[in-house]
Amino acid sequence: MSTRINPRVVYLPTHAIQRAARRFPTPFFIYEESRIRANCKRFRNTFRRYFPNFAPLFAVKANTNPEILRIIFSEGFGADASSEAEAWITRRLGATGMYTGNYTTADEFRFVLNTGCFRLNLDDASMLPALRKIGVPEFLSFRINPGISQGGMKSLYLAGPDAKFGVPTRDVVAAYWEARALGVRRFGIHAMTGSNVLDERYFAAVAAKLLEIAGKVKKAIGIDFECLNVGGGFGVPYRPEQPSLDLDRVAQGIRRVFDRQCKRYNLREPVLMAEPGRWIMADAGWLVGRVHVVKHSSKTFVGIDAGMNDLPRPAIYGAYHYIAVVGKPPRGRKELVNVVGRLCENNDQFARDRRLPVVAVGDLMAIHNAGAHAYAMGHNYNNRLRSAEVLITRTGALKIIRRAETIRDLFRTTNLA
Ligand SMILES: Cc1ncc(COP(=O)(O)O)c(C=O)c1O
Repeated sequence: MSTRINPRVVYLPTHAIQRAARRFPTPFFIYEESRIRANCKRFRNTFRRYFPNFAPLFAVKANTNPEILRIIFSEGFGADASSEAEAWITRRLGATGMYTGNYTTADEFRFVLNTGCFRLNLDDASMLPALRKIGVPEFLSFRINPGISQGGMKSLYLAGPDAKFGVPTRDVVAAYWEARALGVRRFGIHAMTGSNVLDERYFAAVAAKLLEIAGKVKKAIGIDFECLNVGGGFGVPYRPEQPSLDLDRVAQGIRRVFDRQCKRYNLREPVLMAEPGRWIMADAGWLVGRVHVVKHSSKTFVGIDAGMNDLPRPAIYGAYHYIAVVGKPPRGRKELVNVVGRLCENNDQFARDRRLPVVAVGDLMAIHNAGAHAYAMGHNYNNRLRSAEVLITRTGALKIIRRAETIRDLFRTTNLA
């Protein structure tokens, strides 16, 4: 039986990558502007078919490169930020959005409110006293832990009893009551319950739960909600045989739930919001490394010049990323290999026992789905330097949008002369 290959997973701008590798040293991340824009349009337009006022945000934590953010903001997205630096870059680029911190400090609140471009989404009512000292905003939203969760893997479950996030359902009415007593006048409700979810029905289930909770709050203290944010978590396939999430079915499902629950709980319909990161950026980026060692021992280890410091997902989560040998058709001669990086860690392996076209030193490898939660999650362990980021612009030109780090950069914050 032949397996159906999902073209979204295996798509690769081969010629642009080969051109980039002739101009710039490897490793580097490379992003395709036309794909980023197409993803933004598809996301926004699909939801707008069912929710004309739909207000999308981009989860800045997924990819924080200013040039990438500029593209996404120009496609009508606001920012979902979660740290001072994310708030800072949003302001610097002239965008606005929602701020969802967790276990936020008073200084952080102050910083974010001073940017003047964020609506706050609080992780818990216990943060209200800090806000009282800083200045109570007119609008406030709470992130709810509605008790249900899903994710591409257990570590991506972000709600339920083990999760550190969100106001537990039993405390929600009290939280809004306290916020209103402090002087908040306009309200939102939010949940972010899991990441990389590929089950279309799940998003409707989250919306249904949030509207049920909104209904309880309305009944208890009479407030209506200006917006309802279902968070991010829209999954993308990482394996070639995985189907894509059917976004139209997601939006339709949420529409049905809105119609039913708003009537049942006598709610004024809130503006629907969502804050995808992965869905917008993952399949518009690749990490490109060059093979510099092929070692035949107990297994065949293919060493590339990128590492877990560039893309930690396989090491942290055991996540699968499709890997292509650039310019070699996947149908040619194959061998079973482990693709590894240069760090002194045995989990610095991008793939284990993967059947790939036979490679030689000098070949290029592209690790797919590296546009989201990749560079942004990277680090300097082993004092490895952060790689460059390249953009394939709409005209096909190659543009360095972040240079590679240097050893001097690494020690710039120490007191080394
Ligand atoms: C509050 C919040 N919103 C949105 C996102 C984006 O998630 P994703 O990239 O899975 O869409 C995250 C990711 O962790 C998050 O924590």
